[in-house]
Amino acid sequence: MKQTVSVKNIGLRGVTVADTKISFIDGEKGILIYRGYRIEELAERSTFMETAFLLLNGYLPSTKELDNFENQMRKNRELPDYIYDCLRRLPMDADPMDMLQGAVPLLAMVDPDLHEDSRDANFRMAQRLIAWLPAVTAAWHRIRNGRDPLPPDTTLSHAANFLWQLTGTKPDAEMARYLDCCLVLHADHTFNASTFACREVCSTRAHMYAAVAAGIGALSGSLHGGANARVMAMLLDLESEKDLAGWVKDHIDRGERIMGFGHAVYKTMDPRAAYLKDMATKLGKSKGMEKWDRLSKDLERIATTEFVARGKTEIKPNVDFFSAPVYFMMGIPRDLFTPIFAISRIAGWSSHVIEEKFAEAQDKPMLYRPQAEYVGNYCGLMGCVYDPLTARQEQELS
Ligand code: ACO
Repeated sequence: MKQTVSVKNIGLRGVTVADTKISFIDGEKGILIYRGYRIEELAERSTFMETAFLLLNGYLPSTKELDNFENQMRKNRELPDYIYDCLRRLPMDADPMDMLQGAVPLLAMVDPDLHEDSRDANFRMAQRLIAWLPAVTAAWHRIRNGRDPLPPDTTLSHAANFLWQLTGTKPDAEMARYLDCCLVLHADHTFNASTFACREVCSTRAHMYAAVAAGIGALSGSLHGGANARVMAMLLDLESEKDLAGWVKDHIDRGERIMGFGHAVYKTMDPRAAYLKDMATKLGKSKGMEKWDRLSKDLERIATTEFVARGKTEIKPNVDFFSAPVYFMMGIPRDLFTPIFAISRIAGWSSHVIEEKFAEAQDKPMLYRPQAEYVGNYCGLMGCVYDPLTARQEQELS
């Protein structure tokens, strides 16, 4: 029997709610591992397809297993026809994260495995979602710009095909590799807000798509995945700012947050940010856009110094701080930064849904059902009767 904790813990910080074998963070040392492998190693030597296989299955695939997995993914890239009709009927200024969240239940309706709650069926649903989220994001981007969606190119890798379907241009190998690497870095992150949302939803035995739609909603928020687009908005605003230090001080004094800084778990540099920082430098050079690399590093240095001066030594750049200039220099529209996060995190979300549903008996979590402390009125219990007329009259008189 699991222990019941009855202490109030706002935001569930430090509360362990389940076991997981998928990923692990050491927030003090700045370490992130997926299924036992350091994120830096995976970013350097793995691909997003291999990483997705690892997250879903718990081990790195053999060459044959990876081939089969990738071939299945390539076949899954075709969207059902009615999705295009639905996208064409949306307001063309809809936020891509709202579009993506709305597209997931529409895709559920054609998934032949939707009502078979077995591990294999969930695995197949995960494979469809991993292939469909980039396809629907690219299709939406083209439709909202008055263009026709492009068919997938099965000769291209997952990341390269996304860039092709988005832009209509086959990306060079360097660009495709950079994006693939970003997808590896964002693929999982233990019980972050969006993953917890997925796990919470499927703990009710709701299906994979219901869980993923919830995860996309949670990711969209500015304190979570939505921060990356806001980092870029901030950098664009600061492009010609002469007094960065003054701006940082004023911003914090006004109680506003510096987007892309701070983390609920890391007390040191987020290892993903460290990797992306280096990528921003390389991209800045290869694209002749060094000014964004310089600006983000200047802001990092100045904001870190300011946080230290205020005794907040643990506030450092997180993954969103350097992914923003990286995506911008890759030519990706700002409002697609967070959907790209989702295109990657779907690998982690679906792995967590499978773990939540099919963990071994002794680790199996139960339906999430926390408590809240009621701090409202007790009228009914104290003998008062329900009398809305008097309540309204009292309100009008006051
Ligand atoms: N800018 C300014 N102040 C900050 C920042 C920031 N980015 N982050 C934390 N603080 C301050 C808070 O104002 C608060 O100050 P106070 O104690 O004087 O009130 C203190 O640090 C603690 O803040 P909390 O929100 O309680 O700390 P938490 O660890 O929960 O914060 C969070 C984590 C929400 C990510 C926060 O750092 C933040 O809002 N960052 C900006 C948004 C962002 O980048 N989000 C992406 C996170 S990574 C991801 O989800 C993929």
